Amino acid sequence: MSGIGDMLQATRFFVGFLPSFTNVGYLARRSLWQRETWDFSSQHWLVSGASSGIGREIARQAAAAGASVLAVARSADKLAQLAEEAENLAGSIHPIPMDLSLVASTEELISRVLVQHPALNVLVNNVGVLLNTPATTAEGLDTGFATNLLNPWLLTTEACQRGLLSDDASVIHMSSGGMYNVPLSVPALESHENYQGAMAYAYHKRAQVELNAHLRRTEAGRRQYYVMHPGWVDTPGVETSLPDFHRVLKPLLRNAAAGADTALWLASHRPNQRAPEGIWFDRALRSSHALPGSRKGDDLEALLAYLETRGNFPGANEAAFA
Ligand SMILES: NC(=O)c1ccc[n+]([C@@H]2O[C@H](COP(=O)([O-])OP(=O)(O)OC[C@H]3O[C@@H](n4cnc5c(N)ncnc54)[C@H](OP(=O)(O)O)[C@@H]3O)[C@@H](O)[C@H]2O)c1
Repeated sequence: MSGIGDMLQATRFFVGFLPSFTNVGYLARRSLWQRETWDFSSQHWLVSGASSGIGREIARQAAAAGASVLAVARSADKLAQLAEEAENLAGSIHPIPMDLSLVASTEELISRVLVQHPALNVLVNNVGVLLNTPATTAEGLDTGFATNLLNPWLLTTEACQRGLLSDDASVIHMSSGGMYNVPLSVPALESHENYQGAMAYAYHKRAQVELNAHLRRTEAGRRQYYVMHPGWVDTPGVETSLPDFHRVLKPLLRNAAAGADTALWLASHRPNQRAPEGIWFDRALRSSHALPGSRKGDDLEALLAYLETRGNFPGANEAAFA
């Protein structure tokens, strides 16, 4: 797309979605919902990206409603603080400090941690980063791609194959409205010459939406796979990655509880989504396409083949068992 084309698309995106994605949309829709309390007693959850923002709130509310939650993120201190705050809740928080940009860590999470716990009832793949400067992991992968897409995919599929998700588990992927701007593009998933953090992030989130539909098509059964958008939420991640957006829209942004709401609602209600496609937002399934051009992307097979090669390189497994 041209520079002007990009600008027009960005303007259309922000103006078009602003009322809906901000707290304005949340408050309007919430006024129509019935008040309810969650009950997740005796459930086992894993929430990635649980040390901050939306993931922290999901983990905290799940524990408050009785769940035993494996809380995964890099910051051991922040996770310990969350666990301490959760001490008097009905459920519990178990801090698991790990770097989920690394395939080796994901392998370790599965092989060392998950195998020692009861099968998960709920897996929330919430971890996500928008990196304005491209970065590469110690395993040689684009850090955003590895964190946002590859490792959540490996965690979900491996946990499923190894019987570490209960037969009626719910898997919830945290996507973003940014994905409306782009089609599925495999070459755009990792850093390239014209890297733009927000665009790279959008491509990861589009791919995540397509993978969720694929899981729904192929894993049809009692397990439920959902992908959701939390709205525009005031979190440390947004403040750091999108400082101008955060400064201008701060008064209108949702709080973490509003961002977490749909994930908790999905886990509680487990709606039987008929069509594999679509994205959940404010407790309703919505189209995953809203802007021109987003349907004309690469084939899903190309994405699956790419993930297969990038998740399977020499050294990843050795590092996990070192
Ligand atoms: N906020 C929004 O407006 C918004 C909108 C659309 C979608 N989302 C999505 O919502 C999710 C949560 O976003 P947020 O705004 O709550 O972000 P946040 O405040 O930055 O939280 C991100 C979480 O991910 C963890 N994390 C980052 N890199 C990691 C890694 N390599 N390994 C393990 N954990 C890692 C962070 O903890 P450590 O630093 O301790 O690792 C933190 O707990 C993301 O997927 C994001 O894309 C957010």
